[in-house]
Amino acid sequence: MSRTVYLNGTYLPEEEAQVSIFDRGFVMGDAVYEVTCVLDGKLTEFDGHMARLQRSLKELEMVCDITRDEWLEIHRKLIELNGVEEGGVYLQVTRGNAGDRDFHYPPAGTPPTVVLYTQSKPGLVEDPKADKGIKVISVPDLRWHRRDIKTVQLLYASMAKMAAEKEGKDDAWFVEDGYVTEGSSNNCYIVKGGKIITRDLSHDILHGITRGSVLRMAREAQMVIEERPFTIAEAQSADEAFYTSASAFVMPIVEVDGVALGDGKPGKVAKRLREIYIEESRNSAI
Ligand code: PDD
Repeated sequence: MSRTVYLNGTYLPEEEAQVSIFDRGFVMGDAVYEVTCVLDGKLTEFDGHMARLQRSLKELEMVCDITRDEWLEIHRKLIELNGVEEGGVYLQVTRGNAGDRDFHYPPAGTPPTVVLYTQSKPGLVEDPKADKGIKVISVPDLRWHRRDIKTVQLLYASMAKMAAEKEGKDDAWFVEDGYVTEGSSNNCYIVKGGKIITRDLSHDILHGITRGSVLRMAREAQMVIEERPFTIAEAQSADEAFYTSASAFVMPIVEVDGVALGDGKPGKVAKRLREIYIEESRNSAI
């Protein structure tokens, strides 16, 4: 059965949703996006994702007048129409149809293109990967320098994931000037001597919504956090590691560039934070 998707104010079957070949998102990757997780048919961290969307739009001087309540209504309607219990809602706003290819932004008043659709992914919570832990490789961070803006320019992230897959691993960590920035689609952490270490916020990384909540929950659980860059060597000698993202919550990492961490099994800090995060997200989902 085909999904119902949202395109510029209309709900329609996915086969009928069409965007212009002149759309700036298509021609120039001139678009921002958000992925909001759905648990038990409800949205987790909705307001965090909408706040980051507004920030991304503002940083790129992109105008989209849809209000928070209207976004919520669209998300909820799509979840209902498509019967999503576990999965996510993908949202993308592009600078619209410029009428022709031009490096300049289209004239003010050009309507943005707004697309939302659901992705059903049963098994997000009971993910066998979270029980086993995942393995990562490192690759140079060759992305642009405004990684805090959530744009659809994901080619390099995609190349990094493919490089990991070719080596039989699960994901890639980006490294710049000798320090880990983040994962291909997640924020990363190591745990050493009971301390959680994760890179501080700047233009170098995406300000993960899951990151913000997980750090708050860790502090509430009296865990010690150090926000600073770390190296691959430091990660390889850590007791454990994990990553966070809206679609994977807290994911234990058991190997970095071929070196097993600790006893090679998911660590207790990652496991505990995963439990707390999933429970709190469930309780606060709307
Ligand atoms: N990715 N860093 C990068 C580069 C990301 O692409 C993501 C999210 C994160 C984590 O952000 P959050 O906790 O807000 O999901 C960090 C999403 C899930 C994606 O592209 O599918």
